[in-house]
Amino acid sequence: MPVELWFPVPFLIHDVEPAARDAVRAKVIAYLETEDARRDVAPAPAESVVTSYYKPQQSVLVDAKLPELEEIVIRAGNTFIESLGLPPRRLEIERAWINVFRPGAQEALHSHDGSLLSCSYYVEAPEQCGDLAFPDPIGPRRSYRAFTQTTGNNFLTLHEMAFKPQPGRLIMFESWLQHGVHCNKSDKVRISLAFNLRQAR
Ligand SMILES: [Fe+2]
Repeated sequence: MPVELWFPVPFLIHDVEPAARDAVRAKVIAYLETEDARRDVAPAPAESVVTSYYKPQQSVLVDAKLPELEEIVIRAGNTFIESLGLPPRRLEIERAWINVFRPGAQEALHSHDGSLLSCSYYVEAPEQCGDLAFPDPIGPRRSYRAFTQTTGNNFLTLHEMAFKPQPGRLIMFESWLQHGVHCNKSDKVRISLAFNLRQAR
């Protein structure tokens, strides 16, 4: 009596080559020292994260000179679409920003509605710096399993999947998917880059 799985939630997880990881890190750290970064990377209005998200005209890919990372992200997007069995389409970066989580910072649940794919890339990720967490997006299932005590700890029964960040790791998901960032409990900064992708216009 086989059990079948339907409505899976896809994630693409990719570790970039160490040389590219180190080059991106060096450029991001150098960018954060610039006057432009001091102006554009600012505390979020209602969150503890420091971010350039609220400067949508800025792109961290341009400002930190990261064409190699843009290419990697677009390639990951193409792979994602292909793995869903969808026809290929030309993708472009809709928005690219930087997030700095100082010790104690976290980010509430949100989604990136309106985009096709979203992606986090980790530049600095010390131990205990806060996982990227996705609650089971099937809300009725989440609450019902809590009620019936059928929440478990494997991929069939988890109520939340939390990915531990790692320098050089890219995590891509569909933009509708709600996610948040756990508290940075380390004593160092956690630096990530984030991207929304859309179909090229
Ligand atoms: Fe996000």
